[in-house]
Amino acid sequence: MSFTHEKIETNNWLMIALILVVISVGGLVEIVPLFFQRSTTEPVPGLKPYTPLQLVGRDIYLREGCYNCHSQMIRPLQAETLRYGHYSVAGEFVYDHPFQWGSKRTGPDLQRVGGRYSDEWHRIHLNNPRDLVPESNMPAYPWLSENQLDAASVAASMRAMRRLGVPYSDADIAQAPQAVGGHSELDAVIAYLQVLGTAVK
Ligand code: HEC
Repeated sequence: MSFTHEKIETNNWLMIALILVVISVGGLVEIVPLFFQRSTTEPVPGLKPYTPLQLVGRDIYLREGCYNCHSQMIRPLQAETLRYGHYSVAGEFVYDHPFQWGSKRTGPDLQRVGGRYSDEWHRIHLNNPRDLVPESNMPAYPWLSENQLDAASVAASMRAMRRLGVPYSDADIAQAPQAVGGHSELDAVIAYLQVLGTAVK
């Protein structure tokens, strides 16, 4: 009895089973090596773990849902690199848990926004975007400047990050409450925005 391709094409279940085999092999070959490649698991040179203030700012970024309108992932396409700068590389995100890549861009990508504007620009913009960009539909976040940071909770955030592999020392964590004390939520968000994407020029 000779084997013909017709047998596969006329048998739904055989076809489905063989497709699943092909997809799983293909998936494993593509995905598994990523866990072992240095270029995807090692931080890019110059990447530092977030400072306590930046880390708290990142938590506020998540709380406020900024990611609903802003991606943090520049694709390697000319239209993107001309507008935003160097495309994103995996080693930039090793301290991001969870990463904020996203694909929804109601506003611009923020991966390389660090250093693009002054702190003062961000202060005015976050308080009311329309003071700087009249046609903006970004919400205003006036409460950020009014809310003082809770210095007590930052150590717990850092310990959680350490468990996920971020190299914070005991001394880093011990000094953290002092580093965030006296700052507003706005200071923290701006500290976070200003470091975004700065490890890659
Ligand atoms: C409803 C969608 C929306 C949300 C939510 C949103 N933004 Fe925006 N954002 C925009 C739009 C649209 C622009 C472009 C117009 C402007 O600059 O205001 C923008 C611009 C920006 C810019 C300037 C980027 C550049 O390269 O010019 C920054 C920084 C920014 N947003 C930060 C934030 C932060 C931080 C949050 C959360 C606290 C946030 N955004 C929430 C829509 C949004």
